[in-house]
Amino acid sequence: MSELTQKADPRLDGRAVRRIVYDAAAIQARVEGLGAEITAAYPEGELLVLGLLKGSFIFLSDLVRHISRPLQVDFLVASSYGDAMESSGVVRLLYDPETELEGKHILLVEDIVDSGRTLNRLIDLLSERRPQSLEICALLHKHIATELHHPTRFVGFDAPHEFLVGYGLDHAENFRHLPYVASLE
Ligand code: IMP
Ligand code: MG
Repeated sequence: MSELTQKADPRLDGRAVRRIVYDAAAIQARVEGLGAEITAAYPEGELLVLGLLKGSFIFLSDLVRHISRPLQVDFLVASSYGDAMESSGVVRLLYDPETELEGKHILLVEDIVDSGRTLNRLIDLLSERRPQSLEICALLHKHIATELHHPTRFVGFDAPHEFLVGYGLDHAENFRHLPYVASLE
């Protein structure tokens, strides 16, 4: 998308984004590929795709449509950032899945891994519920997650170290509905 088109994007309310990092077509192609990877990776057994809200809502809804096997979907709500651009490290669980996790393959779906603090806390919490397996699928990974103790099994893109918005990612709750991922001014 050209700079001119960005400025003219009515979704942005006159605010400019620095650049489009992943356009809609690139995202769709990669999500389709991730779906195929996940389909091939899982053996028999129950698969529960657990989306971390709100950031994963668009990614998850596209992703599950490319996973060709039986599965269930549930969500978790955790909060860590507030309106700030940096992780506070404090993670609160605001909604806990109602679904039973014991004995199931759990695929935790996250929009972006930054410091890894949010995931560390969640992995610890979910492990206690004795799932058969517990893996992470992140659309974006900044690879500065020195604090992440659990490997991210499925990654969409190795993201630049910039603040990204769109395709579910927000800044102060704005920009989640952009069909592309952009870097903020
Ligand atoms: P972490 O705990 O530092 O790994 O932060 C993870 C969470 O912070 C993600 O789920 C996002 O909600 C948010 N986050 C991290 N980096 C970005 C970004 O570049 N743009 C928007 N949100 C981000
Ligand atoms: Mg956020």
